[in-house]
Amino acid sequence: MPERAYLESNFARYRHVDGDIRDRSLMMDLFATFRPDFVIHTAAQPSHDRAAAIPDTDFDVNAVGTFNLLLAAKNYCPESPFCFTSTNKVYGDRPNLLSLQETDTRYDYADGRDGIDETMSVDQCLHSLFGASKAAADIVCQEFGRYFHMPVGVFRGGCLTGPQHAAVELHGYLAYIVHCALAHKPYVIFGYKGKQVRDQIHCDDVASLFYEFYQNPRAGEVYNLGGGRSNSLSILETIEHLRGMGYRLDHSYSDQARAGDHICYITDLSKVRNHYPRWQLRHTVSDMLCELVATFESRQSDS
Ligand SMILES: NC(=O)c1ccc[n+]([C@@H]2O[C@H](COP(=O)([O-])OP(=O)(O)OC[C@H]3O[C@@H](n4cnc5c(N)ncnc54)[C@H](O)[C@@H]3O)[C@@H](O)[C@H]2O)c1
Repeated sequence: MPERAYLESNFARYRHVDGDIRDRSLMMDLFATFRPDFVIHTAAQPSHDRAAAIPDTDFDVNAVGTFNLLLAAKNYCPESPFCFTSTNKVYGDRPNLLSLQETDTRYDYADGRDGIDETMSVDQCLHSLFGASKAAADIVCQEFGRYFHMPVGVFRGGCLTGPQHAAVELHGYLAYIVHCALAHKPYVIFGYKGKQVRDQIHCDDVASLFYEFYQNPRAGEVYNLGGGRSNSLSILETIEHLRGMGYRLDHSYSDQARAGDHICYITDLSKVRNHYPRWQLRHTVSDMLCELVATFESRQSDS
């Protein structure tokens, strides 16, 4: 069942509005009408690679759209917790300056760090236009928190996924790789010998963290958000994991890494855990792979 129909039939108070966050007066009207007691802002032009082809749309949606929501919240519900899904692309290619060690299957941090924390600079590095528009939104969210004392939380996601993840070749790698393996579609690994590492977090774990924030919000606080080291995988390790589940991926290799692509990004969750000690990661990367496989198979049997 499409998500909208599911929401409308399962939640009596769900209201769907076909609106565009670039439309400032519509956002004002909506916030004035509904005065939400919690805002979760996930609307975005989400593609790192696509942004260069549509830089005006990218900036208008990601930066200006976010500003419109903050302004509407300030005018009509300034006490309501507001969660913004930022991205680790605000760090640009700076994670690639960390010295790395190479193992048979992945890159990892040579200094033994668990992952990347919020002290990494967002300044003076290559971001991609997507990273820049999200960084603008990230800073303006912090500012509404700090300057206007609004309960705005900025969550810099790495790879957020789940059974309904609509992935494409250059966005949402875990869901896309599962799709290719099950649909017998060729998969191209772009650069870094397939040893590039990402950590994966399930959308339920993201939602439960937002709920913790709702119950105990902070003004303008920034958090890195991902699955952490235990949920990290390289592309080679993902292929191996799928092979263990009985799915062979038909893959080839291109030397051309994607511009600014992180070589090794693992989230350091210390700050989130420190501020929200009740929050726990409940989904392992194996669970996520099994769910993605199950979704693919049920869509096949429905079609
Ligand atoms: N999925 C990830 O791995 C990941 C990682 C880091 C950050 N994020 C962030 O999480 C959020 C959700 O990402 P996603 O992966 O679910 O992407 P998605 O493309 O599935 O969701 C984005 C949503 O924004 C909506 N949208 C786009 N332009 C809009 C506009 N002008 N007005 C209103 N709605 C608009 C789209 O309809 C879509 O429902 C985004 O802010 C993204 O930058 C995602």
